[in-house]
Amino acid sequence: MTQHLADRTQPTGDPTRTVAGSQPDWWRHAVIYQVYPRSFADGNGDGMGDLPGVRRRLPYLAGLGVDAVWLSPFYASPQADAGYDVADYRAIDPMFGDLHDADALIRDAHDLGLRIIVDLVPNHSSDQHEWFQRALRQGPGSPLRDRYHFRPGKGPNGELPPNDWESIFGGPAWTRTANPDGTPGEWYLHLFAPQQPDLNWDNQAVRDEFRSLLRFWLDMGVDGFRIDVAHGLVKAAGLPDMGAAGQLKLLGTDVLPFFDQDGVHEIYRSWRKILDEYPHQRIGVAEAWTPNEGRTALYVRPDELHQAFNFHYLNTPWNAAALRRVIDTSLDSMRPVGAPTTWVLSNHDVVRHLTRLGGGLDRARAASLLMLALPGSAYIYQGEELGLPEVTDLPDEARQDPAFCRRGAGGDASSDGQEGLRDGCRVPIPWTAQGASFGFGDGGSWLPQPANWGKLSVEEQTGDPSSTLELYRAALAVRRTHPALGAGDAVEWLPAPDGVLAFRRRAADGSAMVCAVNTTDMAVDVAGVLTPAGRLLLASGRYPGGGVLPADTTVWWAE
Ligand code: GLC
Repeated sequence: MTQHLADRTQPTGDPTRTVAGSQPDWWRHAVIYQVYPRSFADGNGDGMGDLPGVRRRLPYLAGLGVDAVWLSPFYASPQADAGYDVADYRAIDPMFGDLHDADALIRDAHDLGLRIIVDLVPNHSSDQHEWFQRALRQGPGSPLRDRYHFRPGKGPNGELPPNDWESIFGGPAWTRTANPDGTPGEWYLHLFAPQQPDLNWDNQAVRDEFRSLLRFWLDMGVDGFRIDVAHGLVKAAGLPDMGAAGQLKLLGTDVLPFFDQDGVHEIYRSWRKILDEYPHQRIGVAEAWTPNEGRTALYVRPDELHQAFNFHYLNTPWNAAALRRVIDTSLDSMRPVGAPTTWVLSNHDVVRHLTRLGGGLDRARAASLLMLALPGSAYIYQGEELGLPEVTDLPDEARQDPAFCRRGAGGDASSDGQEGLRDGCRVPIPWTAQGASFGFGDGGSWLPQPANWGKLSVEEQTGDPSSTLELYRAALAVRRTHPALGAGDAVEWLPAPDGVLAFRRRAADGSAMVCAVNTTDMAVDVAGVLTPAGRLLLASGRYPGGGVLPADTTVWWAE
């Protein structure tokens, strides 16, 4: 199944295949834009986004002012979980293009000064992966079965699952196989859909394969990896029963026998050595759902990965005290390991923050400007720069989230971010006011777009200073030119009335900026407490100046 790049002329690890004039430590303050390839741009009009579509839109991303682009999986996949079920890690799924398209995309991105981060899915493969298919054929006891978690069932006839673990997508985390002769056979573990068997990371061949995969994509020129379910690779020895209900929460309150086991760190230490063999700081970003920020920090110790998503921030409600607490805890947890904090409000697994925070566009814009004022690296999910809301009224028959389909499979599938309604944030984004699929492509759209999508399009918003797109462009431009934003690891809190967050950010060159956020739904007079002396840089909403911050508004001043 693996495709080959016949005309690939670049030697392994060629340093010219990265962004020219690379800045050291670029990732410490980078703004990274998540492209969900199915829904970003459709180059061939078949209703499904693809790599040529992304490639054509790279100038838009460069113009937006982001530093890097993270692409969700585009590998050969039966798409049981929208590509997070990989059948061949070295091939592009034909619906997205081929390796030449990936190569061209990476080159063009680098020419535009953008870095490319690809998604690596090491916790599980597709059940259509050659290894799994061969393991099924070869039967119990075969060495290939040891690359996954096959076990005999419990009960007199092995008719019960080997333990009580539940799938994140609902129902038991085990599926029974049939033996080559058709009789009921062993069970295999899948923390996600049955089409996503978990790999056994105690098996040396699995470890070797993923080190080789890292090199394959690094040789293709990628600048880093977002590591899917980075907290799940190692399972507790003996696969002990959980013995408790409510396992489904991804962001738990404890270390689980299948999540956040200490053994994962050894894997990332070995990966870090490979990343460091390549020039220009190639990075690893952990998707690690952990009980607290301190556990998250373990993934980004100096000899492990570079960044980890800060889901604790994402999960914080729009409340000044709660936000201040999570900002402090995040920064305090990362400081001892010397890693940058990351900030993220939206991604392909959660309700878009415009809808989730419950305050409409004003609040979403205020939240975005707060995020972009914090020290560290920020993640933007495609379409949030357009102020897209969650699409909440998709017809059931259009939905593809496997958790939605498994809602009746023995669990209610209600868990953090994986409750089965993830299609609502995956609707293809609008580029033009009119036209087939609002410029997503020349054809339709794999998920229906709302009728008013055109008003939110890139075309409609470009050049309108009051638009969310122009707010993001302006914010990212300020962030690039103002060293007090993004850099460092501290915020200096300023006195502020209830419901208002105010802090100063200082840059190494002595410059400073002040950010104030009114999280309440009423205007607040901050004149007595906060007297920013400096020049107004940007406001998320109508800010007439003076001491009154309108409801749900963030303002930046230079000092
Ligand atoms: C991660 C991905 C999610 C996927 C799951 C299983 O949480 O972000 O989309 O369903 O892993 O791979």
